[in-house]
Amino acid sequence: MGELESTLSRRVPSGIPGFDELCEGGFLRGRSYLVSGTSGAGKTNFCLQYLYKGVLEYGESGIFIATEERPEHIRANASMFGWDLETLEDENLIAIIDACSTKIGLPSNERYVEIKPFDMNSLLDTIITIQDEIDAKRCVVDSTTSLGFLIGDVGKIRIELLKLSITLEILGLTSLLTCEITREGEITRFGVENFVTDGVIVMYYKQVNNMRTHTLEVYKMRGTKHSTKIHPYEITPNGIVIHPYEEVF
Ligand SMILES: Nc1ncnc2c1ncn2[C@@H]1O[C@H](COP(=O)(O)OP(=O)(O)OP(=O)(O)O)[C@@H](O)[C@H]1O
Ligand SMILES: [Mg+2]
Repeated sequence: MGELESTLSRRVPSGIPGFDELCEGGFLRGRSYLVSGTSGAGKTNFCLQYLYKGVLEYGESGIFIATEERPEHIRANASMFGWDLETLEDENLIAIIDACSTKIGLPSNERYVEIKPFDMNSLLDTIITIQDEIDAKRCVVDSTTSLGFLIGDVGKIRIELLKLSITLEILGLTSLLTCEITREGEITRFGVENFVTDGVIVMYYKQVNNMRTHTLEVYKMRGTKHSTKIHPYEITPNGIVIHPYEEVF
């Protein structure tokens, strides 16, 4: 087995320069991770880069479940970094599930659309169908918060998200699930999302002196000796770059 091959069988490289150095080479294969952060912290960009580079650099297909933004906006955001999702979708290397449009009463011409009212079993069926078609290795759910509001009750949110993360695991997917937080010091919105995932990455967009800085920490990662520091990151024209050896504050 080559070096890259043996790393890929155990660890899933993120495709984000500087990130894998923080956590022994990347995510554990088949596990689910929460990417938490306030609005604008960079969660969607982080997850898009994970999927796009997954295809381009590691030959791993990916599924993006969009509950917050319509797929056309996701494609447009990705294209700002020079990432052409549409071509990869045409080649069956990326699939985007539109779980946003019908929720807000808009029609959708997307290939994969979730109908209203939201139903976790229906979403899981769609993921299984896509999995048969594209044999994905990576998945993004953006966001658990919006699914949580559709589900309503906190006890039910925990069970439904657990069902989602276990299904993703059984399908062999290594997944990133985003979570929108509103207050500093929080890591989840409903207080349960961290219990159904194997790790938590927290992204910040904090004011330091007279400007805002993007930073990130690996808050928890089961089975991994990870950095316990808060690291600055940059959003470059080619995507996110983390500075693993620079500290903030
Ligand atoms: N091309 C770019 N160059 C530099 N910074 C950018 C670029 N595109 C986006 N950004 C930054 O990324 C931020 C948005 O990132 P992203 O959409 O990933 O955040 P998010 O955490 O998903 O937010 P939300 O919770 O609102 O969905 C912008 O507010 C901006 O600061
Ligand atoms: Mg987002």
